[in-house]
Amino acid sequence: MAMFVLLSAEFTIFLLVIILRDCNADLPTCRQLSECACALNDGREVNISRLGVPGFPKFNYQKSGNYYYTYNPCYNFKDNYCGTECIACQHNDAGTTSFPLGTAGSAEWSQDGGYYSIHYRDGAGGRSTVVELECDASAQEPRLDVIGESGSSKLYYFRMTTECACPGRCGQTAPQSGGLSAGGVMCIIFSVLVVVYFIGGVLFMKFVRGAGGMELVPNSGFWKELPGYIKDGVMFVISCGKRASYKSMS
Ligand SMILES: *[C@@H]1O[C@H](CO)[C@@H](O)[C@H](O)[C@H]1NC(C)=O
Repeated sequence: MAMFVLLSAEFTIFLLVIILRDCNADLPTCRQLSECACALNDGREVNISRLGVPGFPKFNYQKSGNYYYTYNPCYNFKDNYCGTECIACQHNDAGTTSFPLGTAGSAEWSQDGGYYSIHYRDGAGGRSTVVELECDASAQEPRLDVIGESGSSKLYYFRMTTECACPGRCGQTAPQSGGLSAGGVMCIIFSVLVVVYFIGGVLFMKFVRGAGGMELVPNSGFWKELPGYIKDGVMFVISCGKRASYKSMS
C-alpha cells in the first residue's frame, strides 16, 4: 500500500513535469508553408514575404571577417558581385572574389535555440546559409546581423531581427478556430480538474462528512505528506530510477 501511494505520487509528479513543460513551451511548432512562411497550429504565420524585394538585395553589404555579406528575405536576386540568382551573397574586400550562398527555392524552415530559422542551400561550392529570425515587435524595418561562419562546413550564419518573426505580425495574422495546441488543452483540463477537486472536496468534507478546519481539505493526510513524497520523487529521479522499474521518458 505504501509503495502504491509512493508510486502514484511519483507518477503525479511525472505528469506534472510533462504538463508544465507543455504549458511553458516558448516556441510553438511552425509548419513550413512556402519558402517565405510557416504557420503555427492556430494558423498565425511567421511570414517574411513583405521584407524582401524580388531581384534586388534588401540589405547593404556588411563586413564580417574578411568578407562582405548581403541577404534578401524570401526572393532571389542578382547583382554585380553574384551574377547568378541567389538569396545571399559574399564578396571579398577588393570585390574580386564572390560566392552565392544559397537559393530561395532550397529554403528549409526549422526551429532551434529559441529561433525560427531558415536554411538555404545550393550556394557556390557547397556553401549554405542559416538565417535566424529574431522576433522584435518594434522592428518594422528588418535588421541583419552577420554572426559568423563555420568555415569547414561552408555554413554562414545570419540573424534577421524583424516584427515578421513574431507569429501573427505578418501574413496570416488572425488565429483560426480550433487554435489550441494539445499541450494547451491538457493544461486547461488539468487546471480545471485541480479546481474542481479542491472545491468539490471541501464541499464534500463539509456537508457529507461534517468536517471543519484543516480537515476540510480533501485528502488532507496526503497533502500533509506531500513534501515527503516530493523528496522521495526527487531522490527517485536522482538515483536514476534504480529503486523501481520505469519506462524511460524517450
Ligand atoms: C505571406 O504574406 C503575403 C503577404 O505579405 C501573402 O501574400 C502570403 O499569402 C502569405 N503566406 C505565404 C504562405 O506566403
